[in-house]
Amino acid sequence: MTTRSGRHFLQIPGPSSVPDRVLRAIAQPTIDHRGPDFAELGLDVLERVKPVFGTSGPVIIFPSSGTGAWESALVNTLSPGDRVLAFETGHFATLWRGMAEGLGLEVEFVPGDWRRGVDPHIVAERLAEDRNHSIAAVMVVHNETSTGVTSRVPQIRAAIDEAGHPALLLVDTISSLGSIDYRHQEWGVDVTVSCSQKGLMLPPGLGFNAVSEKALAAAGRARLPRSYWDWTPILQANERGYYPYTPATNMLYGLREALLMLEEEGLPNVFARHDRHAQATRAAVRGWGLEVLCADEREYSSVLTAVLLGEEYDADKVRQIILDRFDMSLGTGLSKLAGRVFRIGHLGHFNDLTLAGTLAGVQMGLELAGVAIDPGGLGAALELLRTE
Ligand SMILES: Cc1ncc(COP(=O)(O)O)c(C=O)c1O
Repeated sequence: MTTRSGRHFLQIPGPSSVPDRVLRAIAQPTIDHRGPDFAELGLDVLERVKPVFGTSGPVIIFPSSGTGAWESALVNTLSPGDRVLAFETGHFATLWRGMAEGLGLEVEFVPGDWRRGVDPHIVAERLAEDRNHSIAAVMVVHNETSTGVTSRVPQIRAAIDEAGHPALLLVDTISSLGSIDYRHQEWGVDVTVSCSQKGLMLPPGLGFNAVSEKALAAAGRARLPRSYWDWTPILQANERGYYPYTPATNMLYGLREALLMLEEEGLPNVFARHDRHAQATRAAVRGWGLEVLCADEREYSSVLTAVLLGEEYDADKVRQIILDRFDMSLGTGLSKLAGRVFRIGHLGHFNDLTLAGTLAGVQMGLELAGVAIDPGGLGAALELLRTE
């Protein structure tokens, strides 16, 4: 039997590692979710979470995975047969499209090469062609976790406005929220979908929808069947800090602690920290002589870097060696990218030395797997960490 010492390096792009402070906050006695102490906790987190989304409007919190929060965004705003515009930016965008189709929506899916984000020009073009405004919503994955590509939401918003189109804008920030600058209100997003286990530094288990007034008005007309996901009874109960069902009490303790940590560091500092670690990671990848999957530098993800290997190598074998030898988990290549890429997560509860350790493990693993690399890659990242 293999014994392991020290901490496991959980460097997948979410779930990310949970700070001890948050774990301790979760480990409190469970309380009566209809009692006065719960109302205080409920009201507190519902207010504190708003700045992280960049909104002063309501944020709905579900006991759910991110997938549940996707479904909630669709069933609350759309009706059977509605047309939606979506983009093949990668694995998660493809899954969300599948869900929309499964729910009875008609999806126009713009093909992509899994190396670029949503092209704002195509958004403008497609919406301009839709003269009778039959497209009810535009669905965008902000940070495509399968590829390490971040779509430019403000430019997408501008493209919708340029076309003068009334479509709702639905954005998945599942792997960007709390790590990459995001502004629900300023960018005119109607539903922002998110979850707990990435930038919010919590275990999996909470899903979020931040909603605009336009989205709330759409909910009044939307006819897709909904019950558990229905915003209306939740928003009513939330007014007093409660829920119409049993909420994930202990996860909300954890959420409060994680939000306090983000407040203490300051969101601009949190975003700058992620940008800098991503830059150092790319310096290592280039230093090794390998390729970053993201093909457009305006769309580099600050949350993760997907590293593309030559066809002669098996990226999963590299990951396996790194797990066995150095007790570090890296993200696998998903669907089309299986065996071709591995993904380095650099998000959440993370600092310079966590990155240095991560990149040292990756470099040693690449060498052990026989991948031809220049060992100067690690040094290039350390140089950037030391000087910038
Ligand atoms: C961008 C994105 N969207 C959706 C999901 C699905 O979230 P979950 O696995 O919590 O259901 C993920 C999961 O990693 C994701 O990264």
